[in-house]
Amino acid sequence: MGPNHPPGPPARGDLGQTDPRGGSFLAALVASFALFAATASAVSFLVAAGSAGPPVVQPVLFNHQVHVEGEGFACADCHPGCEEGVRPGLPDDETCAMCHSEPIGEGAEERRLVAMIQSGAPLEWQPLFRQPPHIYFSHRRHVTVAGLECAACHGGIGQSQEPPQVLEALRMDDCLDCHRRHGITESCTACHR
Ligand code: HEC
Ligand code: HEC
Ligand code: HEC
Ligand code: HEC
Ligand code: HEC
Repeated sequence: MGPNHPPGPPARGDLGQTDPRGGSFLAALVASFALFAATASAVSFLVAAGSAGPPVVQPVLFNHQVHVEGEGFACADCHPGCEEGVRPGLPDDETCAMCHSEPIGEGAEERRLVAMIQSGAPLEWQPLFRQPPHIYFSHRRHVTVAGLECAACHGGIGQSQEPPQVLEALRMDDCLDCHRRHGITESCTACHR
């Protein structure tokens, strides 16, 4: 198991290529994004951590709750580095194939997943939480050493019934607020490396 996508911010450069209708659709998308961004900044005090952008679309409507509460999975079963590593990673296709190489439920989304697994099409999960590459953030330090819950930074995603569509990012102020509360370093070079 390991990360199956490259690190770094999600690629947005292919917006135009997937558009069958030419530039006007892209222009409309850009305009609606600008509107969304303006609306989002007007209400930004309501969103503690998060940044608006085009919706993040996942290959499958994955349901955390079914697997975490229903099946008793630990976060680390699918995100292997979340306690002892720097980066948690996302599940590889073999993890899903352990149970979904044949249908086990009745749902249409599971049937779609089984078809993808049987065809060998890779599941390309899109990142939701990302920092710029020069920011150093270690999960081991925060989860295992500091004993913080996942939800302190990721909210309710572990119980979500479908993938969030909004790209989330802890802002520097979020990092600093918590560091101040815990009396942890605020030195620039601790995080900017
Ligand atoms: C059965 C596998 C599985 C388990 C168990 C699981 N996850 Fe996930 N997780 C996924 C998949 C698949 C995605 C990508 C789709 C999505 O966002 O829902 C994901 C996405 C995430 C993301 C966003 C990743 C990114 O790239 O930004 C976070 C954060 C996360 N999970 C936290 C948790 C937490 C916390 C738990 C435990 C409470 C947990 N997960 C348990 C499979 C799993
Ligand atoms: C103190 C805040 C904090 C805590 C606590 C935390 N995370 Fe994260 N998590 C982050 C940040 C920040 C990122 C983005 C890191 C980056 O881009 O380098 C991230 C990224 C991720 C990702 C994206 C996958 C990847 O490899 O980049 C997953 C999955 C994830 N976290 C799961 C978890 C789980 C599961 C837990 C609990 C066991 C947890 N996190 C606890 C802040 C946190
Ligand atoms: C240990 C077995 C197991 C593994 C591994 C597993 N699942 Fe599941 N999954 C289940 C079970 C059990 C259900 C519930 C089936 C039902 O009754 O519909 C389920 C349901 C689903 C559904 C339908 C959910 C819904 O709300 O209709 C999807 C989609 C799904 N899983 C995706 C995944 C993905 C993607 C992975 C890999 C990241 C994965 N599963 C890994 C056991 C597993
Ligand atoms: C919810 C609280 C919380 C948040 C949010 C948080 N941290 Fe931390 N961080 C801690 C604690 C507590 C420690 C001390 C762990 C230990 O005892 O070593 C720590 C330690 C660190 C260290 C090691 C410091 C050293 O002395 O070398 C770095 C680097 C770091 N955090 C970076 C970040 C970054 C980057 C972010 C934002 C993306 C962030 N942290 C967000 C609580 C937090
Ligand atoms: C606890 C971690 C942490 C500390 C300490 C910290 N930063 Fe940051 N900083 C971040 C994170 C995370 C980002 C990226 C997210 C954002 O832009 O808010 C960032 C972004 C920035 C940016 C925006 C451009 C960029 O690099 O992405 C500047 C400028 C900056 N920091 C300067 C500083 C200075 C100067 C200090 C020391 C006084 C400092 N930071 C200390 C975490 C930290």
